Amino acid sequence: MRILITGHTGFKGAWMSTLLARRGHQVSGIALDPLEGSLFEKAGVSALVENDVRLDIRDADALQRAVVEIGPDLVIHMAAQPLVRQSYLQPRETFETNVMGTLNVLEAISATPQVKGSVIVTTDKVYRNVGRAEGYREDDALGGDDPYSSSKAMADILTHSWRTSFPSSPVTTARAGNVIGGGDVSKDRLLVDLIKGFSTGEPVAIRYPDAVRPWQHVLDCIAGYLSLAAAMLEGRAEGNWNFGPDPESFQTVREIADASATRWGRGASWIDDGAGEHLHEAHLLTLDSSRAGSELAWHNHIGFPSSLDWTVDWYQAVADGEDPVQVTNRQIDAFVEIASESSWMRTF
Ligand SMILES: NC(=O)c1ccc[n+]([C@@H]2O[C@H](COP(=O)([O-])OP(=O)(O)OC[C@H]3O[C@@H](n4cnc5c(N)ncnc54)[C@H](O)[C@@H]3O)[C@@H](O)[C@H]2O)c1
Repeated sequence: MRILITGHTGFKGAWMSTLLARRGHQVSGIALDPLEGSLFEKAGVSALVENDVRLDIRDADALQRAVVEIGPDLVIHMAAQPLVRQSYLQPRETFETNVMGTLNVLEAISATPQVKGSVIVTTDKVYRNVGRAEGYREDDALGGDDPYSSSKAMADILTHSWRTSFPSSPVTTARAGNVIGGGDVSKDRLLVDLIKGFSTGEPVAIRYPDAVRPWQHVLDCIAGYLSLAAAMLEGRAEGNWNFGPDPESFQTVREIADASATRWGRGASWIDDGAGEHLHEAHLLTLDSSRAGSELAWHNHIGFPSSLDWTVDWYQAVADGEDPVQVTNRQIDAFVEIASESSWMRTF
């Protein structure tokens, strides 16, 4: 299958491109240049993709030309400015990329007759956070206080409007929460900060140690997007879908920091950075993924705490000199093995 991934140079994009290319698909990508030291570079993803297009999705004309030329059967739209703290510093860029960029992707999909399905990736942060302990469901109200969350909620509403207004356009949205996994280099992500600190032997300063967050391995999340895509291509999925982690993976930042320090060993430690001034961040947001479970037969395979083990093991293997291509491929092959009964594997 010809599959276009926007954001293929990013963290999720690199894992998904590698997984799909290893499964024999013709993968193309559209994104900005990768960050220095990214998984995209380390895992040699450029060599795996058929078209490695670098352009800004805010450029509607260039984007449409590229999508039409690639002519994909399926589009997974993940390109975004995905960081909450960055969104306070660059609100305009965040809204332009996440909202108008998504509009440009939707228009390009509509202009490309080969596209039979698409998944627009948003986030768990699209929901209006009313501090509820039980999971948010797909038909709960959307909201978002910070620029990132609200821009993603806007992208979600935009996609709903597109689907409703232009019913021939095959678009769905997928909402997932914080993911973890080897090779992330983004700023302000807990595991990334922890591992960087552990590698230097310095104690790592951690914000909000008592905040509860859902933790999910990136491959479980990607399998959710692919379950949705597979069902959509079979004509049995539309609308909005949650792909959250299992309830036991709702852990405090403190628990994650302790567990990953133990897994890393070698004297790894962290400290509470509670004295600093912090920007507003939502404290608890969990997803109810029962729709994906009952209608797509999707569930997490790696789950918790193995997600943390897989992540720490990836970084430690690479830190100890193993080739990141081999480490990444080994984890993908292990995942494919444990997910072999999943219905999405028939398509992908
Ligand atoms: N990582 C998480 O924990 C998480 C959680 C929920 C949702 N998401 C969503 O998943 C998607 C992927 O996230 P990620 O963690 O891989 O992010 P990432 O920052 O690693 O990757 C972002 C990708 O988007 C591309 N991009 C950014 N601005 C662009 C622009 N203007 N034009 C073209 N490409 C652009 C980047 O080049 C990169 O390829 C995003 O839509 C994000 O909002 C991520």
